[in-house]
Amino acid sequence: MCGIIGIVGEKEATPLLVEGLKRLEYRGYDSSGIATLSNGHITRCRAKGKLANLEKKLEKKSLEGTTGIGHTRWATHGAPTEDNAHPHATEKVAVVHNGIIENYATLKAELEKLQCRFETDTDTEVIAHLITHYLKQGMSPQDAANTALDRLEGAFSLAIIFAGEHDLLIGARHGTPLAIGYGEGEMYLASDSYALAPLTKKICFLEDGDRVEVRRQSAKIYTNDNKPVTREIRITAQSGANTGKGAYSHFMLKEIHEQPAVIGDTLNSFINPSTGKIHIPEEILTALKKTPRLTLIACGTAFYACQVAKYWFEQIARVPCEIDVASEFRYREAPMPKGGVALFVSQSGETLDTLEALRYCKKQDQTILSIVNTIESTIERESDMVLHTLAGPEIAVASTKATTCQMATLACLALATAKINGSINAKQEQEMTMALRHIPATAAKIISDDSAIKEIAQDIGKAAYVLYLGRGSLFPVAMEGALKLKEVSYIYAEGYAAGEMKHGPIALIDENVPIVALSPGSDPLFEKTASNIQEAVARGGKVLLISDAEGAGKLSKLTKWNVELGHVHPFVMPILYTIPVQLLAYYVAITKGTDVDQPRNLAKSVTVE
Ligand code: G6P
Repeated sequence: MCGIIGIVGEKEATPLLVEGLKRLEYRGYDSSGIATLSNGHITRCRAKGKLANLEKKLEKKSLEGTTGIGHTRWATHGAPTEDNAHPHATEKVAVVHNGIIENYATLKAELEKLQCRFETDTDTEVIAHLITHYLKQGMSPQDAANTALDRLEGAFSLAIIFAGEHDLLIGARHGTPLAIGYGEGEMYLASDSYALAPLTKKICFLEDGDRVEVRRQSAKIYTNDNKPVTREIRITAQSGANTGKGAYSHFMLKEIHEQPAVIGDTLNSFINPSTGKIHIPEEILTALKKTPRLTLIACGTAFYACQVAKYWFEQIARVPCEIDVASEFRYREAPMPKGGVALFVSQSGETLDTLEALRYCKKQDQTILSIVNTIESTIERESDMVLHTLAGPEIAVASTKATTCQMATLACLALATAKINGSINAKQEQEMTMALRHIPATAAKIISDDSAIKEIAQDIGKAAYVLYLGRGSLFPVAMEGALKLKEVSYIYAEGYAAGEMKHGPIALIDENVPIVALSPGSDPLFEKTASNIQEAVARGGKVLLISDAEGAGKLSKLTKWNVELGHVHPFVMPILYTIPVQLLAYYVAITKGTDVDQPRNLAKSVTVE
């Protein structure tokens, strides 16, 4: 979602701003732009679509100046056009914004009465006009910005430059992230430390309500009631190196292929290689042992990882679990038990709904545990305890390697909790730990042997609707498979509990509907799912069975397509069965010719609600 970068420096700002925007691209966007101060005047360049379009425009007309701001926009208010692209500006001020100004309509009406002329459909433009209005009343840039900020409602972060003020960049954080970067004679603002990593390692994360006055040699931070405050400056562990696609045609394919290695790294961080035992920090296990309830909360793909984990925590660790998507949970005012643990799972660590759900749980005195992939993220910083997935930077918008690493981490956590709760014996523990340790090798085999999936994708690509079915811990994998297909191929798909199919989706089944059934013969629920497959076939449905040799053999007369995986232990089934549905979505998207890594309308870091 929208990315912000700002520079007050000594060198030409444009190339640095563009490089920063490239590192914000992964968040998902549909237009971009920069503004600089050239001889004291605000100059702007904006373009619809990819950053390459902005770069082309800048080749013709470069923007001069050492102070500037840049933005990648994910449209909320107003279509993704050049006019609506940020920065928004008047002669006196230019603004980039991430988030939503909820009272923009009231402010706009007020400003229109004062003869302000609006040129865009965005909520952001009111900020530029409001600050300009206060500047015209004779206020200093700082006072004008503060007075305007006091009037904004919603969740937002901002970077603002002022005509004639080469040594000033004002930033504000109110709900969505913003970080200050400390350079040598140069200072920066950005949505995340990843964008700033090539420029500086010295980073300060603003807290909610903070405002900052950034100059070449300093950054003065104030709370929203104008009290000076200091925030910790830390050395970021983010790498400044660029993450490239290597020999792969897309980041999504590269990230699918990285799974054996990164799942291995993640597992190795929890499994002691010499003892083969799972090691989870004591304080986490103590909280989980005593807890009357574990509440799992996340969004999107991370939510499905949580849903898989619910089966593990309940069946294996015997911990009562509740689970919800963050956008629903945060507003439903759920009562929470004393001593409860709330677990948040997030790749970016910045998803606003997840963060707000976390804050609600904090107020309910829950112990806050999070599983995040992006180090130093807001969710990590606001949690009591954290476990990291070691998936590395995930660039494709559709999450793949982060998801399976989340599941691997949750599996280790559930297993360690089962042990401390005494709900499994030593033999079961050893068998399940062994199953986890075999994941990288089995995953590598699935990935290297994807020719059947590639071929089947040609047929699936012709469908208008695809139904995914699974039972038990494979039900969330069915939903994840459907989500992945929707996201990257734009084919309508839904994931259903196999046993629930007859309560609705069965009405949609005919000879044009492919049904992707996930059901290994080793699954204790195989026979149940097999009956549901029979029901679908009886209505003309064409079944793609993802299974093992035993399952494929039993259903060979019913299925149209087969993807046969090796034998896997039921405990780790959901982790490994996620990989073929990722590959299927990827290859279908290739047949459709979509923008696989940055699918239309989607964002990777969702910082608005
Ligand atoms: C967006 C992304 C998904 C991701 C979800 C939650 O929708 O496109 O890939 O699963 O946000 O993001 P998080 O960073 O919290 O895991």
